[in-house]
Amino acid sequence: MKTKIAIKSPLRFPGSKSKVMNRIRPYFLSQHQEFREPFLGGGSIFFGKPLSTINWINDKDYKIYNFFSVVKDSPEQLCTIVQRTIPTIELWKEFRKYPATDNDKIFQAFQFLFFNRTNYSGIYTANPIGGLTQESKYKINCRWNPDMICSRIRLCSEKLQNARITNLDYSTLITKPGDDVLLILDPPYYVKGNSLYPVGMTPNEHQLLAELLISTPHKFLLTIDDNEITREIYSSDNFVYNQESWYYTIHSKKKNNIGKELFISNFKI
Ligand SMILES: C[S@@+](CC[C@H](N)C(=O)[O-])C[C@H]1O[C@@H](n2cnc3c(N)ncnc32)[C@H](O)[C@@H]1O
Repeated sequence: MKTKIAIKSPLRFPGSKSKVMNRIRPYFLSQHQEFREPFLGGGSIFFGKPLSTINWINDKDYKIYNFFSVVKDSPEQLCTIVQRTIPTIELWKEFRKYPATDNDKIFQAFQFLFFNRTNYSGIYTANPIGGLTQESKYKINCRWNPDMICSRIRLCSEKLQNARITNLDYSTLITKPGDDVLLILDPPYYVKGNSLYPVGMTPNEHQLLAELLISTPHKFLLTIDDNEITREIYSSDNFVYNQESWYYTIHSKKKNNIGKELFISNFKI
């Protein structure tokens, strides 16, 4: 396995795994040749781990796919727009009214990044930080630091040169044959996932995911919210279960806001 230092995604992402990489580390350091990540999201796992010999990342959300494709192929054009932008409510409203078309992939990627860094919790459809009236002490531009964002874009672009990015359903990455493959899967949570992401998963899709994992020849780690339903769906005698818990990052660190997550794999660490 090639080594490369961990780097950070330019995206803020609801449900990001960036704060719990130490718990995922033993899994991604296990022997493999090819790494596949079917639910890329903000990319904190891929960017936070060393490169593998072969790397395949994917998200069904076209905006995420387009964003990381532009980071890979056109980082400087993207940075030029980031550097000359000062977020204001007027600009935010203009972008909401006039979304970039598919003909302008770089501007589409820029708008995605703009909303990601100016909206509450990085949620694409949310209101801007500070609200539409900007009366809060936190303003729309409080997470817009062009130098930091561009430095991350450039480092991520370098790493992405070694990866294939696709815009497919997760099932393709599980069923495609390969040699010595490790899958790390972080799908939307069963209970709350669909309120956080434009592309969510139905109960049937979770069921299908479980069936594919039962029969896959590849090594895998799945992270999922821990409750009675997920324990029933993702159940097999061949699976290894580890319960993890930490504070949800989407809201404040309130005492009763501890999330319980299951780490399910088909190999021991
Ligand atoms: C929990 S997030 C991943 C977060 C990521 N691990 C991080 O740390 O930023 C789940 C992602 O799955 C994607 N997704 C939802 N349904 C999908 C599907 N059927 N196939 C592939 N990706 C899907 C969503 O667009 C979302 O980006």
